Amino acid sequence: MKWMYLLGLFAGFSLPCTAAETVSPALDDKPAFIDSLIERMTLEEKIGQLRLISIGGDMPRPRILQELAAGQIGGTFNTVTRHDNRPMQEAALRSRMRIPIFFAYDVVHGHRTIFPIGLGLASSWDLDTIARSGRVAAIEASADGLDMTFAPSVDISRDPRWGRISEGFGEDPYLVSEIARTMVEAYQGESPAAPDSITASVKHFALYGAVEGGRDYNVVDMSPMRMHQDFLPPYRAAIDAGAGGVMVALNAINGVPASANSWLLRDLLRRDWGFRGMTVSDHGAISELLRHGVARDGREAARLAIEAGIDMSMADSLYRDELPGLVQAGEVEIGVIDAAVREVLGAKYDMGLFHDPFRRIGVAEDDPQDVNAESRLHRAAARAVARQSLVLLENRGETLPLEKRGTIALVGPLADSPVDMLGSWSAAGVARQAVTLRQGMREALGDAAVLLHARGANVTDDAHMVDYLNFLNWDAPEVVQDPRSPAEMIAEALAAAEKADVIVAAVGESRGMSHESSSRTSLQLPPSQQRLLDALKGTGKPLVLVLMNGRPLELGWAKANADAVLETWFSGTEGGHAIADVLFGDYNPSGKLPISFPRSVGQIPTYYNHLRVGRPFVEGKPGNYTSQYFEEPTGPLYPFGYGLSYTRFQISDVRLSSASLPRRGRLQASVKVRNIGRRDGATVVQLYIQDLVASVIRPVKELKAFRKVMLKAGEEREIRFSIDEDDLKFVNAQLQRVAEPGEFEVQIGLDSQHVQRRRFELQ
Ligand code: NOJ
Repeated sequence: MKWMYLLGLFAGFSLPCTAAETVSPALDDKPAFIDSLIERMTLEEKIGQLRLISIGGDMPRPRILQELAAGQIGGTFNTVTRHDNRPMQEAALRSRMRIPIFFAYDVVHGHRTIFPIGLGLASSWDLDTIARSGRVAAIEASADGLDMTFAPSVDISRDPRWGRISEGFGEDPYLVSEIARTMVEAYQGESPAAPDSITASVKHFALYGAVEGGRDYNVVDMSPMRMHQDFLPPYRAAIDAGAGGVMVALNAINGVPASANSWLLRDLLRRDWGFRGMTVSDHGAISELLRHGVARDGREAARLAIEAGIDMSMADSLYRDELPGLVQAGEVEIGVIDAAVREVLGAKYDMGLFHDPFRRIGVAEDDPQDVNAESRLHRAAARAVARQSLVLLENRGETLPLEKRGTIALVGPLADSPVDMLGSWSAAGVARQAVTLRQGMREALGDAAVLLHARGANVTDDAHMVDYLNFLNWDAPEVVQDPRSPAEMIAEALAAAEKADVIVAAVGESRGMSHESSSRTSLQLPPSQQRLLDALKGTGKPLVLVLMNGRPLELGWAKANADAVLETWFSGTEGGHAIADVLFGDYNPSGKLPISFPRSVGQIPTYYNHLRVGRPFVEGKPGNYTSQYFEEPTGPLYPFGYGLSYTRFQISDVRLSSASLPRRGRLQASVKVRNIGRRDGATVVQLYIQDLVASVIRPVKELKAFRKVMLKAGEEREIRFSIDEDDLKFVNAQLQRVAEPGEFEVQIGLDSQHVQRRRFELQ
């Protein structure tokens, strides 16, 4: 076959020469090899490399193949089978330069097997578990011929109104940075060139999670100190971990859109952080520079973007249409184009595509007969990860775990909705392969108990909302309304509840409600579901809420009225099994919130690591003229780091190995943690530090380390943390990272609010 011939040529350490009749340097000399390609490329071929197109858009297949064969496309995204990708790679290899393309996709929380959404993964506070999800995703995605994922999404967000908060890992710079690094390493494996690795393209650079008012695509205006201290570290962590790509954010930063922001992409990313990979715009972002009002026309937009440092343009034609003219007119130097091409070719090189363009596509004979075959899924991993992502928020009178006997009424619009188990950006996940809560409970119970089921309510009765949610770019309408009246549905649920010993209500959001372009003004359950809960509460039966949602919700009613509340996020392909494992006590929940839950939308932001003020609110000492909202208690409903277990843990006072820390020295902080309940269980010991006096105001506390520990009933263990000068550093007013001498407070707890404290001095 022709591609085998080409493959031989590539593997033979030289590229076939056509135009320039020179022999390429050895393939193992990356810079020389890439330079030799660039030397022989025409301007059009170079610009072709900078074009990333979405398959499935307006362009018909034959035209795509034609443009690939003409060297006009550098990479594609949105195909997920080897069968689809092979002819495209073959076409690219028919081009004059025979440069392979790469295939990208949004593999965000799993590929065929869907893992919990970002907030769920983060709730595990277990980096090995998180890594497992990323590794499985890489194995599955690479087996489908994919080379790159647009992930991880490491945007810190403090505003639950933002729908994309679901994709990230929460509000804390340290936790999110740890996860960012873990995910990059998991996707890229030993090397991004390995056949079972995919290149991570971290996104959305930068500060996308800080869009004004949580309104998607809005502007970000932020002080440089805050940026460096709280919002930039996760991107940096991903880059330091070797992420091969960076996706540029859609928002503006302090007046300049990220896509035209040379401070962001050249000064910070490349000069200061030393990034040596490929940058890609977000979907259509370069043409959006016109709407931002910083470019007069497409020509100016293309010039701004390439000069700012965007190597590849995603899904718009401006580079193709405008760059040739800009170069010919001397408005863009050829060196700028060459630099961008060098990064794109470098990324392909690192993916191993020059060594073998079919490295992940393989040969047709090996293509899976059925891409969705059960045998291709990693269900055990998905169940294990999902169990760790569940956060027990309330458990009055040990309502949970439930006994596997008697009659249980399972109600709620999310009890049996496979597509909603998956959450947004569920890649190539297939709804019918997702285990719903109803299925999970049914299997767990067998014949031991009666499980009654009633939908009880639609997710929402608001027709406008339903239209909006179905208008998101799904393949088919997802929010399918039950035609019965609300009263009929509630009556059915009540009839089931009356017969039952306990009610389990699965309520929350449909997956589209926490999605790109799904910002909300309210964090409440839609009225249809609240009415159902009010009616169920009226029965007086024990009420267990299983929440499915992609953002912190307002849970005042739930806290006051439900007997137990389990936050399950969108828990993925095996979610129903995992939740049933927890409901019935086959798994003891250990998840902790990676984000604060506000009492009301008006209280936002409620992030735990807030700065100190001159008139702080003091718990237990109500009074005016302090920083608070007077109609509501101060502080979040559920704090960062919070989560219950079926057992209870106690921690001792903090012990410090010394009262002072010398520069370049170390200090040990330790606590004893004891499982004082009757069950084995895991918890997360969290270490926070507060800088008591500094040249700039510092947060009330900042997470610096954590350890997840499994303890048998009655077991006690000493947990030791090592603190050094680096842990005390912060970004000062001159934007230097410094540790200033003086007093610090160590705070150790099982959540961010209830902590044991001890002070020491940095010399
Ligand atoms: C737009 C989204 O903002 C981004 O996260 C995603 O990776 C791209 N579309 C490609 O699907």
